[in-house]
Amino acid sequence: DKEEDLVSRAPIVTIMGHVDHGKTSLLDYIRKTNVTQGEAGGITQHIGAYDVVTSSGKRITFLDTPGHEAFTAMRARGAKVTDIAVIVIAADDSVMPQTVEAINHAQVAGVPMVFAINKIDKPDANPNKIKEALANMNILVEDWGGKYQCQELSAKKGIGVEDLLEKILLEAEFLDLKANPKKNATGTVIEASLDKGKGYLATVLVQSGTLKIGDMVLAGSHYGKVKAMLDYRGNKLTKAGPSMPVQILGLNGAPQAGDKFNVTTEREAKEIATRREQL
Ligand code: GTP
Ligand code: NA
Ligand code: MG
Repeated sequence: DKEEDLVSRAPIVTIMGHVDHGKTSLLDYIRKTNVTQGEAGGITQHIGAYDVVTSSGKRITFLDTPGHEAFTAMRARGAKVTDIAVIVIAADDSVMPQTVEAINHAQVAGVPMVFAINKIDKPDANPNKIKEALANMNILVEDWGGKYQCQELSAKKGIGVEDLLEKILLEAEFLDLKANPKKNATGTVIEASLDKGKGYLATVLVQSGTLKIGDMVLAGSHYGKVKAMLDYRGNKLTKAGPSMPVQILGLNGAPQAGDKFNVTTEREAKEIATRREQL
């Protein structure tokens, strides 16, 4: 890519942590309060990936992985999609086995972490106990003199969530994330399914280039022309640039989470898909 073609792109953030520590509640709150456009047709599509605009006008893409199994599965397939990991820990609980696993996954993948100490509205919340447990793992948060950004919050009440978003954006600034939108799209499949009425639906994350209606997409061992493209709110899109998660319609099958996709000619798509299917 030529330097002049590179533009800033939104950070892609995965939320991880122990069961019931509040990952989904946090995403729910963020989505409710940071929507860009109105809902189309009043139906929210579940696509497991959300692009939001914060109150400071900056974009963040969130991946709603059902725990870190999906993260591991994606990494096992060679997919690197996450720029920043948010590790959610409930302040009324402790650093739990799945918290440790999430931290390990992020560290092995070389993904920077931001800590979210959740449920501070609870009477038995003890954020300092969490920070101490992290310190015992050699993870020092900023207010303990360390390098890790950490935000105390309540996903339920919305306390501290905007501050967390600002910390994510600060982390993203350090990373100086850029991509070239002026070429054919490449990216990764987040999830795919068969809809009885619509056919195969695939949620893909565009990582570079711009995906357009009519593009011939090759994803894993499947291919097809993009017939329609939706964001998670169900809005129809004609194109999607870097860091944008979209649901696409038109593939001839369901690729797997973590499969790469690219845009090519129909002939090449057919050839390569057939070859991959025989593997
Ligand atoms: P899994 O996806 O099952 O791993 O759980 P999760 O991490 O997504 O947690 P979820 O958002 O489902 O929250 C679990 C429970 O904690 C729910 O009953 C939430 O209402 C509650 N909860 C989440 N955040 C808060 C919070 O900030 N304060 C309080 N009091 N409860 C919370
Ligand atoms: Na839960
Ligand atoms: Mg959840």
